[in-house]
Amino acid sequence: MTIEDLYQIGALYREQLASFRAEIQICGSGTCRSAGAAEIQRAFESVCEEEGIRPEIRIVTTGCMGLCGQGPLLRVLPGDVTYTRITAGDAERIIREHVINGKPLKERMLPEDYPFFTRQTPVVLEHMGRIDPESIEDYIAHGGYEALAKAVTYQSPEHIILEIRNAGLRGRGGGGYPTGLKWDIVRRGTSQQKYVVCNADEGDPGAFMDRAMLEGNPHAILEGMAVAGYAVGATQGFVYVRGEYPLAVDRMKRAITEAERKQLLGNRIFDSGFSFRVDLRMGAGAFVSGEETALLHSIEGKRGQPNPRPPYPSQVGLWGKPTVVNNVETFANVAPIIHRGARWFQGIGTKRSTGTKVFALAGRVRDTGLIEVPMGTTLREVIFDIGGGITDGGSFKAVQTGGPSGGCIPEKHLDIPVDYESLAQAGSIMGSGGMIVMDDSSCMVDVAAYFMEFCQSESCGKCIPCRVGTVQLSRLLDRIRRGVASEQDIETLEELCVMVKDTSLCGLGQAAPNPVISALHFFRPEFERHYRDHVCEAGVCPVHSTEAAGDAAGIESGGAHV
Ligand SMILES: Cc1cc2nc3c(=O)[nH]c(=O)nc-3n(C[C@H](O)[C@H](O)[C@H](O)COP(=O)(O)O)c2cc1C
Ligand code: SF4
Ligand code: FES
Repeated sequence: MTIEDLYQIGALYREQLASFRAEIQICGSGTCRSAGAAEIQRAFESVCEEEGIRPEIRIVTTGCMGLCGQGPLLRVLPGDVTYTRITAGDAERIIREHVINGKPLKERMLPEDYPFFTRQTPVVLEHMGRIDPESIEDYIAHGGYEALAKAVTYQSPEHIILEIRNAGLRGRGGGGYPTGLKWDIVRRGTSQQKYVVCNADEGDPGAFMDRAMLEGNPHAILEGMAVAGYAVGATQGFVYVRGEYPLAVDRMKRAITEAERKQLLGNRIFDSGFSFRVDLRMGAGAFVSGEETALLHSIEGKRGQPNPRPPYPSQVGLWGKPTVVNNVETFANVAPIIHRGARWFQGIGTKRSTGTKVFALAGRVRDTGLIEVPMGTTLREVIFDIGGGITDGGSFKAVQTGGPSGGCIPEKHLDIPVDYESLAQAGSIMGSGGMIVMDDSSCMVDVAAYFMEFCQSESCGKCIPCRVGTVQLSRLLDRIRRGVASEQDIETLEELCVMVKDTSLCGLGQAAPNPVISALHFFRPEFERHYRDHVCEAGVCPVHSTEAAGDAAGIESGGAHV
């Protein structure tokens, strides 16, 4: 494969696409898939056949189109008309009136200027929901693998690292560590063998950004990994994905095979001296396995438990060798940066947080789904302009970012920009992109208790502060929920939060108290209402439970294995 071959594949495929009279794209991801996307596709195919136009119409299953809350989604081209809440029964009208007679169904289509889409800036999601994720040719026809070609043919590894550094790309897995700096450390490692690992473990409850990208545009991730491999001098990559994502696993396996067939992975890529292979490893779905040292242990076939850092994987990683570990979204940003340049990327976002961020917007907003916004967009813009505000005329109470390691942000901070530093200042974190909007029907004690229970059950048990501390914190929160806590319990809760944060071995334990700390900081009166007045205003907590009255034991050691 040469660059000319690549351009030719792209041109041929574009010609083929242009020869169709119309194209029907059906979202086959997540909620749309479970709401019957396959049946809808069959219905459209059979109506086209009945009408005798089947060969003229391209019908394709795509990845997530973003507006999951209004799924199943379908788009008709030319014209880029999006229909929401599609059923198999809509096939006849859409084919006859729109595709054949050229009259889109006005009452069913999404307005062209629907803010959910117009207020976004798609970079990593640019082709998602538009291309066929099972066709490498479709990816190539949209400029795919050109960045890799450019990199290995014309650019030195040092130049690429400089470009990623100048772009200001920071890790999208949560920590925000500068990607170029990480790559540079691995590049400088003296070992002959180095590795590139894509962290697709995605354990945050409710988060589905990485799954959607793996399902919707797997080649973008492979291309980013291959560029990383070239930049750091690695010949082997691994995608570590949770086994609960079967479609993502299938799509990634298929993408690897197709890329190997086209010699875009394997030996002497683009006739250069660079060789790079990618293998897939499946995790069993433990949250802690997303922590980079635990993840590397898991790839090595060991128990997925973290190690203290330093040394970092960039110095001592997989089988002791320097290893790049980056998140799915981080890799998906690489090809656009190489393609369009660091200056272009710097122009998006803020000075310290460049580029965009993908979020899984969920909870009590009108429009839920997958969104991508420039860093620096305010939370208010995300929730009210893009998400359409609170559902059922409710009023905003808080937004949770960062999942079990993050926190709840109240109304008074809605105008803070979404970037790493501002979210941390507001007592939360950027995290990997989970964003849950809450109204008055959510109780902040209950939310804090939910995340603590999650951390407790996901704790690997290697270190005592996390193994025992999360159990005790859960118990204290449960006492507050049930209205039987005392002032002393609250003091103990706060002290324990600090202790668990300061002494746990890995990020899971270190960040587990964050949802509690932020809830106590911003919503303390709500905690007080529970333990002083025995009232849960949201009506969520069992504050009047009779069994509660019998439990006045406070902190206990039972159940936690010291
Ligand atoms: C408990 C825990 C779970 C994590 N889960 C993930 C995950 O699912 N995906 C991810 O990319 N990073 C996860 N991380 C962060 C990784 O350790 C690591 O920082 C990240 O993969 C680096 O990639 P980035 O620099 O591109 O963000 C987790 C960290 C902790 C402490
Ligand atoms: S902090 Fe928790 S998850 Fe991390 S090593 Fe300790 S016990 Fe395991
Ligand atoms: S899953 Fe269909 S729009 Fe997201």
